[in-house]
Amino acid sequence: MTDDHQLRVSKIRNGTVIDHVAAGQALNVLAILGIDGTSGEAVSVGMNVPSDRLGRKDIVKVEGRELSQSEVDVLSLIAPAASINIVRDYDVVEKNRVVRPDAVASIISCPNRNCISNADEPIRSRFTVLSDGVRCDYCETIVREDEVAANLDVN
Ligand code: CTP
Ligand code: ZN
Repeated sequence: MTDDHQLRVSKIRNGTVIDHVAAGQALNVLAILGIDGTSGEAVSVGMNVPSDRLGRKDIVKVEGRELSQSEVDVLSLIAPAASINIVRDYDVVEKNRVVRPDAVASIISCPNRNCISNADEPIRSRFTVLSDGVRCDYCETIVREDEVAANLDVN
């Protein structure tokens, strides 16, 4: 529990709090959620805030929005310790740790221009999830954890 002295980012009424994000990943979380400030939703971001569990953490609070499973799947790749808190009427009504899927499809695009998933073929991108990144199932190119956000297919 955070007391009022330590609270750096104000509470939200309805929406999602993505907590325990690895320090330095908050902007990538925003990229994954397609948040660039133009859609009008209220978003609060804390970076490098003290955390008992992680030492330092980032935190992202999005008003009026709940996340899709595929968004949570991608978040798990860059923020494996994150918890997703659903807030309704100021209360946390659901709290889930992200779970890394074994594979992700149609979410990340392969950075290898010659990969068949980038050719003019009806082939969905598909990656196997590794401990520190993902590997293209077609050409075996590896996208490291810190490169995932730059290779998103969703936005
Ligand atoms: N939170 C918020 N707005 C609310 C309720 C909660 O922004 N109306 C935030 C809290 O500030 C916290 C996160 O959502 O960062 C989870 O809230 P809570 O479960 O109450 O906190 P903790 O018990 O500290 O969570 P954990 O055990 O996951 O660390
Ligand atoms: Zn590939």
